[in-house]
Amino acid sequence: MLKFALAFLQFLFTISSSTIIPLPSTLRASARNQSWSSPSSSFSLSFVPLTQSSFVLAITFNPGNVIVWSASDNGTGGAVVVDSDGMLNLLLNGDLRLVNGSGSIVWDSGTANRGVLHASIDDSGNFQLLNGDSFPVWSSFENPTDTLVPSQNFTVGKILRSGSYSLSLGRSGNLTLKWNDSVEYWRLGFNSSINENLSSPRFTLRSNGILIGLDPSFPTGMVNMAFSSDYGEGNDVFRFLRMDDDGNLRIYSTTGNGRTRNVTPTWAAVTDQCQVFGFCGVMGICSYRDSNPICGCPSQNFEPIDVNDGRKGCKRKVELEDCPGDVSMLQLKHTKFLTYPPEVSEQTFTVGIVACRSNCLQSDSCIASTLVAVGSGFCYMKTPGFVSGYQGEVLPSTSFVKVCGQAVPNPPLYKDTSGKDDESRLHVMVVVVLVLATLLALIAIVTGFWCWFYCGSEKSGYLSAKYELFDYASGAPMKFSYKELHQSTKGFSEKLGNGGFGAVYKGILSNRMAVAVKQLE
Ligand SMILES: *[C@@H]1O[C@H](CO)[C@@H](O)[C@H](O)[C@H]1NC(C)=O
Ligand SMILES: *[C@@H]1O[C@H](CO)[C@@H](O)[C@H](O)[C@H]1NC(C)=O
Ligand SMILES: *[C@@H]1O[C@H](CO)[C@@H](O)[C@H](O)[C@H]1NC(C)=O
Ligand SMILES: *[C@@H]1O[C@H](CO)[C@@H](O)[C@H](O)[C@H]1NC(C)=O
Ligand SMILES: *[C@@H]1O[C@H](CO)[C@@H](O)[C@H](O)[C@H]1NC(C)=O
Ligand SMILES: *[C@@H]1O[C@H](CO)[C@@H](O)[C@H](O)[C@H]1NC(C)=O
Ligand SMILES: *[C@@H]1O[C@H](CO)[C@@H](O)[C@H](O)[C@H]1NC(C)=O
Ligand SMILES: *[C@@H]1O[C@H](CO)[C@@H](O)[C@H](O)[C@H]1NC(C)=O
Repeated sequence: MLKFALAFLQFLFTISSSTIIPLPSTLRASARNQSWSSPSSSFSLSFVPLTQSSFVLAITFNPGNVIVWSASDNGTGGAVVVDSDGMLNLLLNGDLRLVNGSGSIVWDSGTANRGVLHASIDDSGNFQLLNGDSFPVWSSFENPTDTLVPSQNFTVGKILRSGSYSLSLGRSGNLTLKWNDSVEYWRLGFNSSINENLSSPRFTLRSNGILIGLDPSFPTGMVNMAFSSDYGEGNDVFRFLRMDDDGNLRIYSTTGNGRTRNVTPTWAAVTDQCQVFGFCGVMGICSYRDSNPICGCPSQNFEPIDVNDGRKGCKRKVELEDCPGDVSMLQLKHTKFLTYPPEVSEQTFTVGIVACRSNCLQSDSCIASTLVAVGSGFCYMKTPGFVSGYQGEVLPSTSFVKVCGQAVPNPPLYKDTSGKDDESRLHVMVVVVLVLATLLALIAIVTGFWCWFYCGSEKSGYLSAKYELFDYASGAPMKFSYKELHQSTKGFSEKLGNGGFGAVYKGILSNRMAVAVKQLE
């Protein structure tokens, strides 16, 4: 590696913190060890192999080979793939061209005859084509793909793109995540009270892990927008912001050295992955198993578009136009169809659950409807097109989907907690919340009873003495800690059944008395 670097220095020379690449120069995909590297070698431009015979042109952070920029199709945002005869040509006229083995130009910087005198790559990861005034005619920082590195500015008009998802910055300083450049499923404002255009809003990730927004009009010039969970820690942590292909925007931190370098997410824009529009594809339903998002279909009336990839979505086994007069509404409890701007206003109706179902059934332009929370009366009618679902035990929404013939529901996703292996973290969280709520209610009742019996007539010191004298059998209310309840029910392991307001568990108290413990919903 060192030998190679020395050899390469014959035609590269270095000034200050950037490596200069003269015109003309070439990188070949077949020569695996060719690269244009920054002075400290922390960043390099090279061909990164995807397979034995396919490569992408990328800037990587080393060690770890984290791709922070790649030559991409400016329409789809996808990386341009070349074969092993592909090469990158920095021409005498200043144009930078990526050429496939067949000789076709597959990517072009568009800088021919614009005064480019040389290229450079610096230790912040910026690759530039510079003119005689050292002014960048083209740079990787100004043409980001899906990643932003520290010191890189993100301004109005730029886009980080990954598949159907994109991040952009509005003139009022709002960062937004959109699906298909239209559905806005996440937004973060520089300052929620700003509603007018700012003069030159931009945001950037600091190397210590803060995402900051900047504009000359801010009193201090900047606002903090987000912090990585390891904010400020470690001097050798390299952090970057990436638009991931699952529609989430994340800050990643890379730590460690060489082969053992770890890349871990330390902040995510959308904390609930199932809220990302289209995550499970068209008609796909997102839910959680063991706290991981999984994709499924609404019912047996649907089948996955790709059995190996649930994220591709679902299609009806029989299309609606093939069964005129024989449609019914499938009911999905604890399920909502995601509705974000710009759809929100045009799809809202304020009706009850019966009308939310029947209005959709009767309307030709409705394929599904969703009652946001039973009781709220907000009913969204989904028109033919892309519909994205979310199912979760704690969701208060009910949805309906138009299907051909009889609705054939899925087997239940969530089983009783009697089988331990089915217990997801979500379950545990729900149980903890329920138990805490129950305890609060119990404490309130017990306190109430005590007050009823003793308030004003007894001294508090006497109360605790009195408490110890109580016998479990006396029938008077008792107070238990969560720990005691957890122990007595062996961790809520023996379920007796379901009561009116929640599950009932068998418990054994320290005096061997058996009791029933109910979780209130
Ligand atoms: C670079 O790779 C070529 C073969 O592709 C090899 O001949 C050459 O020795 C390598 N150079 C270094 C410095 O590793
Ligand atoms: C995208 O590509 C088209 C045609 O190749 C080109 O005209 C256009 O300038 C490119 N846009 C950007 C932003 O590079
Ligand atoms: C480059 O050529 C290979 C076949 O040799 C082809 O599979 C690939 O799609 C081509 N890349 C582009 C961007 O046209
Ligand atoms: C980012 O923008 C600021 C203000 O416009 C500028 O001073 C700075 O040089 C820019 N950074 C880069 C790497 O372009
Ligand atoms: C994405 O948007 C375009 C136009 O804005 C539309 O034609 C296309 O159907 C949309 N894609 C999906 C999957 O809905
Ligand atoms: C920017 O986002 C905030 C919420 O973060 C919102 O109140 C405001 O209306 C948005 N402004 C624009 C112009 O979209
Ligand atoms: C938001 O903007 C308003 C008006 O421009 C300003 O008074 C306020 O201090 C700003 N808030 C923050 C957190 O910068
Ligand atoms: C902000 O700028 C856009 C385009 O530059 C313009 O259409 C819009 O009216 C402006 N909004 C305000 C509130 O000035």
